[in-house]
Amino acid sequence: MALMEIFGIFNLVEAFWFIIPAYAANGLAPLSKFTRRTTIDKGKNWRDGRRIFGDGKTLEGSIIGILMSVFIAGFMGLAFFFLPWDLSPIPMQIAPMGPLLGFMIGLGAITGDIVKSFFKRRLGFERGRSMPIVDQLDFILFSFLFAALVVPVKISWLIMLAIVTPLFHLSANYMAYLLGVKKEPW
Ligand code: CTP
Ligand code: MG
Repeated sequence: MALMEIFGIFNLVEAFWFIIPAYAANGLAPLSKFTRRTTIDKGKNWRDGRRIFGDGKTLEGSIIGILMSVFIAGFMGLAFFFLPWDLSPIPMQIAPMGPLLGFMIGLGAITGDIVKSFFKRRLGFERGRSMPIVDQLDFILFSFLFAALVVPVKISWLIMLAIVTPLFHLSANYMAYLLGVKKEPW
């Protein structure tokens, strides 16, 4: 795979198009703060005496995340017809967004996040303690795996997103710090 295929602007556009519903699922699950909260592990512990997933993984948050992904992907499916794809000199591989693909991407994102929490608890990380890189990439990897069951995906998207997502996360946190919304700049 040529470097240009990974770091080219067209690969970035294709990759972002694909991952927007996953960002929505992962970023909007915290809206469950405003609902009733049912923890997925029902408060139970694993053999090691620590929580299976922890209080941060709820049924409500999972459903909200998946629904947001379905909704955004459905909207993108409509927006597709109004976007200037012909600006590209080469045909792009734009994932066929719609509710079904949105469901797979959202389900993947939420599942990846829950699997990640399982391993964080096993490693002794208490709920909410950050695990840099892993916290930003878990949901992307699983979105890819789940989406690959229904549409063709490209490894070059995964590589691109693995690099830019942690960078975005860092800059967003830094802006929140400058705005006084966050205590630490990371
Ligand atoms: N959330 C939820 N259900 C999910 C995922 C997230 O309710 N399946 C909500 C929880 O309120 C959670 C918040 O979104 O606290 C932020 O999610 P995340 O950072 O993934 O959870 P943490 O609380 O940091 O827990 P962990 O250490 O297990 O990652
Ligand atoms: Mg967290």
